[in-house]
Amino acid sequence: MLKQNERELTPQGHRILIVDDDPLVCKITRELIFRNTPHNPDTANDGIDALDKHKKASNTGQGYDLMLVDLMMPEMDGTTLISEIREYDQDIAIIVITGRGELSEAYRLLKEFQISDFLYKPVNSTDALLFSIENALEKSRLRLEIQQHEKLLEERVLERTNALRNEVAEHKQSEEKLDHANHELKETQAQLVQAAKLASIGELATGIAHELNTPLMIIRGNSQLILENATESLVPQEILQSISQFVEQTDRMGRIINWLRNFSNQTLFESIPIRVNDALDSLIPVSEQFRQRGIQIEKNYDSSHFFVLGNLSELEQAFIHLLTNARDALEGIEHPTLKIQTEIQSQKQQEDTVVIRFIDNGHGIPQDVIANVFDPFFTTKEVGKGTGLGLSVCYGIVKKHHGHIEVSSLRDSIDLSDQGHGGTTVTISLPILQKFESENLEILI
Ligand SMILES: Nc1ncnc2c1ncn2[C@@H]1O[C@H](COP(=O)(O)OP(=O)(O)O)[C@@H](O)[C@H]1O
Ligand SMILES: [Mg+2]
Repeated sequence: MLKQNERELTPQGHRILIVDDDPLVCKITRELIFRNTPHNPDTANDGIDALDKHKKASNTGQGYDLMLVDLMMPEMDGTTLISEIREYDQDIAIIVITGRGELSEAYRLLKEFQISDFLYKPVNSTDALLFSIENALEKSRLRLEIQQHEKLLEERVLERTNALRNEVAEHKQSEEKLDHANHELKETQAQLVQAAKLASIGELATGIAHELNTPLMIIRGNSQLILENATESLVPQEILQSISQFVEQTDRMGRIINWLRNFSNQTLFESIPIRVNDALDSLIPVSEQFRQRGIQIEKNYDSSHFFVLGNLSELEQAFIHLLTNARDALEGIEHPTLKIQTEIQSQKQQEDTVVIRFIDNGHGIPQDVIANVFDPFFTTKEVGKGTGLGLSVCYGIVKKHHGHIEVSSLRDSIDLSDQGHGGTTVTISLPILQKFESENLEILI
């Protein structure tokens, strides 16, 4: 069904309604139009009849294109008829037929209801009538054309607006992707710089460790020799004590040198399948100190059976360093807690890993310090309390196990008054043995 504003006007056979209470006028006007134009008008003898016909025609999609309306009619006059029709039909062309006395009313209608034209009664000029009709229909046609163009234009504007909106959204999305990629790039770059720095420190450390080891062994050996052979009568007690301190201290130096070697030595000796959860559990009782200091340990382990191929004592060493660091960071903190978690992570196209987290609610690490924590000998602890080797040793051990270690902390200022609001998380990820491999291993063990 055609809507009012979709009514199409063709030059031929327009639908016209003549409304006049004088049947003779209706008849003559109809004859006139029928004979001289391709149109075949309908007639109505009063306003009510006209309104009825107009409504019916509109409802069937055969709406009138033009109405010739006499103003003076009984029951419902022309003015009322026109105002009622205009309520729901803005498109129909209307020509008012008026007596000379109603001129001012005709003008008012012209302005208020978009009347196309008005003719004086009686209409005795055929030319004037036909001209007025064609003129009104042409105006209607033009108006409809404009409406259709406007509609088309609106649709185009809407289409373009939507396209633009999509473009903006796409643009925003790519911007976000770019930001994300940039962020990842920066992180990778930082990791590369860190890895390169640690690798060169490692090289240097191995060199120094090697150079120091030989003279140290000589000092230690000789000191021990003196101790074994010296008799108290020949060597005073204080000197013997000093020499025994030599042995103790050289032992300590030897341990540090070994740690340094560990940091850079990438060869993994004596690998066995290790149950990480068990390895962690075996350490916790060792750290009796935690209980004594009121530090709560919360364990949350992945329940699946998994193994990591590695060196148990080295991994344990790494874990002990992390426990010690957490213990130190939790000193003087209210409700000190250490969470130890393991979680299997499966990634597409990458081997499965176990992620081990040590999360403490200790004083945290200031952001300007965090980049240095893996450097050998970097410590914020008092002299005698920290060696600054714990994390660098962990780093070396984790790398040897083809893993990854990361330290993060929420604390962002050096202000010590915010102690206890930082907390530190150390995350280690290690590749795990594939399921079928570990199943076979279980049978062997
Ligand atoms: N869990 C932690 N909480 C706060 N700071 C930490 C933590 N772990 C490491 N750190 C910081 O990293 C530094 C280096 O740690 P590490 O290499 O183990 O050496 P050390 O413990 O001997 O100082 C520490 O001095 C400390 O400042
Ligand atoms: Mg430490």
